Formats: sequence, C-alpha cells, structure tokens
Amino acid sequence: MQNPAQNSTTAGSAGLAGSSNAAPKKPLGLASEITEGESFKMDEKDPGRRTWMITCGAAGAVAGAAVAVPFLGSMAPSEKARSAGAPVEVDLSDIAEGGLKIVEWRGKPVWIVRRTPAMLQSLNGLDTQLADPNSDRKDYPVPDYAKNAHRSIKPEFLITVGICTHLGCSPVTKFETGGASGVAGDWPGGFLCPCHGSTFDMAGRVYANKPAPDNLEVPRHMYLSDTRVVIGKDEQGEA
Ligand code: FES
Repeated sequence: MQNPAQNSTTAGSAGLAGSSNAAPKKPLGLASEITEGESFKMDEKDPGRRTWMITCGAAGAVAGAAVAVPFLGSMAPSEKARSAGAPVEVDLSDIAEGGLKIVEWRGKPVWIVRRTPAMLQSLNGLDTQLADPNSDRKDYPVPDYAKNAHRSIKPEFLITVGICTHLGCSPVTKFETGGASGVAGDWPGGFLCPCHGSTFDMAGRVYANKPAPDNLEVPRHMYLSDTRVVIGKDEQGEA
C-alpha cells in the first residue's frame, strides 16, 4: 500500500525522469510543467482546436488566485512527447501539501493538487449543490478508480484536466475558504472559471446551475510508485 504522505517536499523544480522500477514497455514522455502565467483557451477561429495562449487577464487571475499556492518552476518542454501525445510521467515528491503542479499532456494542462485533510473534508456535504456529485455523466467519462467523492485513486492527490467543460477556459484556483476567496462567504475552496463564473469543488465537481455542464475531466492515470504517476495510461491501456 502506498503512503503518499511521505512523498512531498517543497523543492523548487521537478527533476522529472522517465525511469521507474515499474517502467512500462514504451518509453514515457517527460512531463513539461506549465508556469502560472500561461493560460488556456479555445481557438476562436477553430473551436475544435485548443491552443496555448498567454492572456494578460487570465494570467493575472491565475497569479492573483495563486498567492497561497506554491507553484513550481517551469520545466523545459518535451516537444517530442507532446506532439506524440504520449503518456507523461510526473514526479509528485516536490508538491507541497496544499500545492498545485501543472503539467502538459496532449496539449492540455493537467492539474495535480496535493490536498490537505481540510481540503478533503470540504468535499463532504456538497452533493446537493453539485450537478453530478457521483460523476455519472458520460460526456467526460471518469475512470472507475475515480468514481468516488474525491475523484481520484489516492484521496490526497487530485489529478484532473484544467479546462472548463463549458467553453474551454482555464479555471483559476480558489483554495482559500470563506470570504477571503472572493467567491462567497461560505465558499469551501475549489476552482473558479473566470470566463462565465462556473465553480468547481476541490475534486473538480461542478456546482449546479452553472454554465459548465460537467465535472472536470479525470485523465487515465496510474501510479508507478509512491512518488511517480503516469498520466494518459492505466492498467487498461492508453487513453
Ligand atoms: S468557459 Fe468556464 S464558465 Fe464558460
């Protein structure tokens, strides 16, 4: 049984390597980490294609929301892995408790949040406020191992695609609770999409009566060790 609590440090950058003691047969891509200033939105000329963009407003929103979140330094991207859409291997050991790491997989930002006990506690009692508390909807199929209240294999780690299911904006972190969040006085912590106001809890579950129709996507993933996870692949195969 893995013990995720022993794995996190506050290292400033991730030394991502493609090896592990349970390495898959095909080499994995190295995760390219995304800096806090990058945002993500749909290409207006081609809505079917999403492109990375630097947007001042969104970047400011991300930076402002991230005051208490220890973002990590950027990594050199692995263009080869990115273009191939290969699974990417991520080191979890440098994510502080309550911290967020963002890596790129198939051109999408994947968020990895190391949730605190309080963040996990915040998930309780929200079901009646959520659109799909049990991840039953089919548009963004959730792997069986994430069909639970915390939507993850290990409760401590949330792994989700950081793209709003409404029109593809990148939500921002709103991990602060209550009025300090700027969301609402009873806000339990989560994510806010600044484009049209959709809100998500600390498991990426969307609140009801918001523009976003679905919860945030949980990509296929599996743990290679206590401190390494591969995104884009699980025991059933590649995504
Ligand atoms: S794109 Fe997120 S609420 Fe519209």
